[in-house]
Amino acid sequence: GKSWVLAVTAQTPTNIAVIKYWGKRDEELILPINDSISVTLDPDHLCTTTSVAVSPAFTHDRMWLNGKEVSLSGGRYQNCLRELRSRASDVEDEQKGVKITKKDWEKLHVHIVSYNNFPTAAGLASSAAGLACLVFSLAKLMNVKDDHSRLSAIARQGSGSACRSLYGGFVKWIMGKEENGSDSIAVQLADEKHWDDLVIIIAVVSSRQKETSSTSGMRETVETSMLIEHRAKEVVPKRIVKMEEAIENRDFPAFARLTCADSNQFHAVCLDTSPPIFYMNDTSHRIISCVEKWNRFEGTPQVAYTFDAGPNAVLISHNRKAAALLLQRLLFYFPPQADADLNSYVIGDKTILQ
Ligand code: PMV
Repeated sequence: GKSWVLAVTAQTPTNIAVIKYWGKRDEELILPINDSISVTLDPDHLCTTTSVAVSPAFTHDRMWLNGKEVSLSGGRYQNCLRELRSRASDVEDEQKGVKITKKDWEKLHVHIVSYNNFPTAAGLASSAAGLACLVFSLAKLMNVKDDHSRLSAIARQGSGSACRSLYGGFVKWIMGKEENGSDSIAVQLADEKHWDDLVIIIAVVSSRQKETSSTSGMRETVETSMLIEHRAKEVVPKRIVKMEEAIENRDFPAFARLTCADSNQFHAVCLDTSPPIFYMNDTSHRIISCVEKWNRFEGTPQVAYTFDAGPNAVLISHNRKAAALLLQRLLFYFPPQADADLNSYVIGDKTILQ
């Protein structure tokens, strides 16, 4: 028959957890030991753009990331592709004279081309945006009719934190109870307009790739830390309730205290792991001290900090004015230089630079 190509392009921003996910109860399905809450960044910074295409001329599923072919043979990609194929529906393109039935999707192959608008190696949660975008674009191409929450359960099987990038604004990943993971999904707590005076600044402390992957780090923590159970069972459930309240009421002091405390506890359980995991470095610690001093001096928190599985600081300011002051101080104390401790800033609101 005649050859044809159908393609879809989607864009998905990354997300930053303010109540962290750390530890799985099921490694295969990626089911977490606690709920988590994140904020999705605006798509101008730190986002993935993915185009997916299908054609009878394609002989294998293939993927290119930032122009280089990557293997799709890993279990996580395979789980996502299988789930999507099983949910695909009929697709018709009258202009091209193409009709794909639900059954055809089992045999047809896809090509996936993905770009990050930030350095992949910078340790800036690239997997969250990447896997979410892959699932979202393929679901569009394959006419998967499931809603965002159902899609989040598929993205979750690619990378846990990816499930939270299916929504903008503030998002909660509910750990769920089911063994098959069907209720371990993301839900939106508030949309991107709800608290739009927050400004996010990311201080890129090191663009080196992290030494301990989140997958092995989590496994080691769950196996060896005595604090992790206390965190997952006693601390996080209470923090989740308080964080939801803080977000709903746009209560920045409460939001900032919870965010900083949760980042610090996450790094404390990493230190409580055997052998200990160090994600932050001296520059990260100096940034924390600076923010803590400033917040104490002002009497009420102006800036929240949070660090993921790497040394880069994610700083969340109360408003534009606080963000401008923060940036001034950061540029003074940590001037960005090539090869310096801190080499660049990514600002989650482009207007602040003007
Ligand atoms: O989804 P993963 O395996 O990249 O793990 C992410 C873990 C943290 O970024 C440290 C916390 C989080 O909730 O995003």
